[in-house]
Amino acid sequence: MSRTDRALWPSLLAPSDHGRPDLCAVSAEGVRVRFADGRELLDGSSGLWNTNIGYGNRAIARAAAEALTDASYLSVFRYENTYARRAAAELVELAGAEHYGRVLFSTSGGAANDLVMKLARQYHALRGEGRRKVVVGLRGGYHGLTFGGFALTGDDLGQQVYGVDQRLVRHVTPNDPAELTALLSRQGAQIAAVVVEPVLGSGAVPLTDDYLATLLALREEYGFLLVADEVATGFCRTGEFFATERWPARPDLLIASKGLTNGTSAAAAVLASRRVAGVFDEADAVLSHGETQAGTPVTCATILATLAEMRRLDAVGLSHRLAARLDDRLAELAATHDLVTGSTGAGCFRSIRMRTPDGEPFPQAEVPALVAAVRAAGAIVHPGVNGVQLFPALTYTEADLDELLGCVRAGLDAVTTAPLVGAGPGVGR
Ligand SMILES: Cc1ncc(COP(=O)(O)O)c(C=O)c1O
Repeated sequence: MSRTDRALWPSLLAPSDHGRPDLCAVSAEGVRVRFADGRELLDGSSGLWNTNIGYGNRAIARAAAEALTDASYLSVFRYENTYARRAAAELVELAGAEHYGRVLFSTSGGAANDLVMKLARQYHALRGEGRRKVVVGLRGGYHGLTFGGFALTGDDLGQQVYGVDQRLVRHVTPNDPAELTALLSRQGAQIAAVVVEPVLGSGAVPLTDDYLATLLALREEYGFLLVADEVATGFCRTGEFFATERWPARPDLLIASKGLTNGTSAAAAVLASRRVAGVFDEADAVLSHGETQAGTPVTCATILATLAEMRRLDAVGLSHRLAARLDDRLAELAATHDLVTGSTGAGCFRSIRMRTPDGEPFPQAEVPALVAAVRAAGAIVHPGVNGVQLFPALTYTEADLDELLGCVRAGLDAVTTAPLVGAGPGVGR
């Protein structure tokens, strides 16, 4: 092994797993990824839930190449650029121009969560309510690993070790209206924003209608900003372009990222309602947030091309049809495999629920072994809560879906006959 063979320090992988050829991807096309050990695996995770219309889309690649030739770099930092203007306008039209007015660009889901926490606090300060600084998230929610997003993330993923400051953050149990109501009645005047994923990524738990109704009523009563973190649910992952299209009322801020460029650029977008943006306009106030690589021509060209491709492919229709097939296959798996009790999630955003033969939840410590066994059978899946997550590309054929479920079943059979606690890569969420 040469001195540089392990120069790369990958994310969320234990050092003992660094440098493995079977975990090093080489290329990707359609719904398959080729690895340095020569194997080609079916991707059951759409990259990191971002390649919603598959790898290697030529129209998006062409748009990126053209933008790089035309304007290799332009910013949205003290300047504007026409690519960013066009992408912002399209996003507002897509999400609903009667409600959303402005778009801020960022470079990741985590950074966009940082941005919304700042924006929400400044919004209240501009309205003379500078005491509103607390941001509420959900237990089990995930908002990234930057300092702001990490503070808001509702699982213990080492925040204390890294000195993440959570003094101005509160977490409440998802789908428990009483707990949220109690928090608001105690601290309502300090709360700047409530940030929720329409479907919690960890465990694929959708917010219930009842909970949403309470959340929307409490927003009216207490005046906090409601933020929908649609980093994972956006871009037809759960059916519609945005999961919040099904909400009875819109959020004040919406965060999009993963599917926004079909995984081709480091991009996120925060859509602000007309009302929220209006407060900044009226005060002519500058938001102290800016990222060198946000809203560049290549990023915005990939956003525009992704939107055009999703429309051309009827991604909404694809998502609904694939979700219906996924429902059938998951029900069949639950009916025919002892370890599987069912599934959670919405649309093409799913988690398999499992229990051991003695009826206990499938041990979290065995999930990496299951992920490794599914991988040995030919498919990439990521760990979930007591099971694995399935995020197929919307462009999956029926044969792809059968193959994915076949690999999952083979992985389940392998761990049933030979539990391998701790084996395989401890890949994070
Ligand atoms: C809902 C949600 N928010 C934020 C993030 C963080 O995004 P990023 O990894 O781009 O920082 C993720 C990533 O999984 C996510 O699912």
